[in-house]
Amino acid sequence: MRIDVLTLFPNMFQGFITESIMARAIKNNLVEINLVDFREFTDSKHKKVDDYPFGGGAGMVLSVQPVHSALISIKGYQDALKIIVSPQGETFTQKKAYELSNVKHIIILCGHYEGYDERIRDYFDYEVSIGDYVLTGGELAAMVLIDGITRVIPEVISKDESHINDSFNNDLLEHPHYTRPRVFEGKEVPEVLLNGHHKLINEWKLAKSLEKTKKVRPDLYKKYREGNNE
Ligand code: ADE
Repeated sequence: MRIDVLTLFPNMFQGFITESIMARAIKNNLVEINLVDFREFTDSKHKKVDDYPFGGGAGMVLSVQPVHSALISIKGYQDALKIIVSPQGETFTQKKAYELSNVKHIIILCGHYEGYDERIRDYFDYEVSIGDYVLTGGELAAMVLIDGITRVIPEVISKDESHINDSFNNDLLEHPHYTRPRVFEGKEVPEVLLNGHHKLINEWKLAKSLEKTKKVRPDLYKKYREGNNE
């Protein structure tokens, strides 16, 4: 998979692409990340990429020209899935991460300022938000998308590190996990996990998942119950 990111702050992606699982996925050619600083594409003498809003109002608006020029400079942009990250988009979910992990080429536009010139939207397929809050810019949101998509690309995460039991995959949050030591400051690992009885262990895991989901995410719990016709 190839992902091009249109951003005014490519340095923000350092660390993200040089560490841990992302770095390994890039090294193994499972994903290629290409950062495009669209300021370099502006026709403006002073390298401006924003301007005052027509009709007045607070803040600056991202101009269409630099974004368009940067976009069409990307090889194969016509066939790529073109996404804008913004708080106005549809919410990113685990389901969406799986869907997007099958796409060969994605282009993500990170915005700043008060908003985008509406005509920018004509060149993109849709808009994605990472949640109901506003960030100072789209870079963190783009990284969230890229991370969430990349980790579910087959072979990025080994079987041992599997994501099959991730929270959300079955509309439930994950059950608790324990590792050694068996006792820490008097806190004991639940007995059921130590007896090797897989049926009992699985029942315990499901019960804990249900308990946690009901408590902290009643919306998900309801969805799970409905999905299981209960
Ligand atoms: N840019 C600013 N806030 C955002 C959000 N919540 N999601 C995606 N992009 C954003």
